[in-house]
Formats: sequence, structure tokens, C-alpha cells
Amino acid sequence: MELYIDTANLEDIREIAHWGILSGATTNPTLLSRESGNYDEIICEICDLVGGPVSAEVMSEDAEGMVKEAERLVSLHKNVVIKVPMLPEGLRAARELSKRGIKTNVTLVFSANQALLAARAGASYVSPFVGRLDDIGHDSNAILTEIVEVFSVNEFSTKVIAASIRHPLHVTQAALLGCDIATIPPAVFHKMVKHPLTDKGIASFKADWEKAQAEA
Ligand code: G3P
Repeated sequence: MELYIDTANLEDIREIAHWGILSGATTNPTLLSRESGNYDEIICEICDLVGGPVSAEVMSEDAEGMVKEAERLVSLHKNVVIKVPMLPEGLRAARELSKRGIKTNVTLVFSANQALLAARAGASYVSPFVGRLDDIGHDSNAILTEIVEVFSVNEFSTKVIAASIRHPLHVTQAALLGCDIATIPPAVFHKMVKHPLTDKGIASFKADWEKAQAEA
């Protein structure tokens, strides 16, 4: 499973990109609204930092407007992928963009049937929001399982991005269930890398080494 970063914060992206484990990034209007500066420049810089697909969302409500916005966004950088909302107009836009060779990520997906529609519209990616499903008492694992199975049985090339990740267990579950990608907030990356036994082990190796050196 590939790991994307789910933020528009350049400092956080720079830091995690240095770990050498990122394959891409996802943004959304909320994430961009938290940053200051020119959004086009931020998107370009994210593209350069991660060296892979970067989702940028369109805000129009009709397919024509979405396609127009998409054409401008993809002209910013070759890594830009267009996020379109899971709506009839979003599906129309995904179909049109796919005809033009522009990659899309259908976002705000909460069911296997929505994912099926996105795949049939020619989406390159679908983003089921696991955290928001869990928030309202639904079983995000069951829905991810269905989406992965539907895509496998039907031999769709559309990739599944587990999004709205809230904690490290969501990442493990996405990987176990066969998602292609998990898009992860910086804070969750920091939790994933930590383990108390790792810290304890490093401290005891260091202490033993220093003791041996002192006695040599
Ligand atoms: O990028 C979309 C998604 O990951 C949003 O997550 O935490 O706002 O539900 P969240």
C-alpha cells in the first residue's frame, strides 16, 4: 500500500517527505484554507516535494465549471490530480476529464455503490472517508472491504485511497484490507513511527554501549 500525506502544510510535508516513504499527497479546500499564501504556488510546491500525484479539489457545482477549473489546475504541474465531489455533476466531470487524459480522484465516497459509480465514470482514484464513517457509527472496515472486493471482481483499474484517516489503526486496517493507498495526516505519521519499546530499546543499547566504551 502506498502512503500519501493528507495536508497542505508545506513544513509538515517537507518533514515527512524526508523520511523517504511518501508516494503522493492529497489536499482539500479545508486543508488549503488553513495555510497562508498563494494556493497555486502551494500546490506546485507540494508536487515538487512529494514527486508523485497531488490531489487538488475543484469547487464548481456543475461539470462544465469543474472541467474548466481542472484544466487550469493541471496546467500548474504535471503531478496534479483533480478531486471531484461524488455527485452526478462530479461523475460527469470525471468522465469528461478521463476522455481528456486528466486523472481524477472522486472524493467524499461513503459506500461501495458510490465507488462503483466513480470507477464506471473513469476515475483514477476513489477516496472513501473512513474516519467520517466511523464518526457516525458506521463500520468503515466493512465498506472498505466491499469497495476493494467490487474493484477486484470487476477488474477496475481505479485505485482506492483510504482517506479521513484519524489514527494508526486506520492505516493498518486499510493495508490489511487491500487498499492501494492511505492518505495520512502528519500527526498520524508521527504516531505510526513511535513505539515505547523502540525508545526503550534505543536507550538501553546506548547505555550498554557507553558502559562498554568506558570500561574498554
Ligand atoms: O482529504 C480528505 C480527508 O482525508 C478529510 O479527512 O479528517 O476531514 O475527515 P477529515
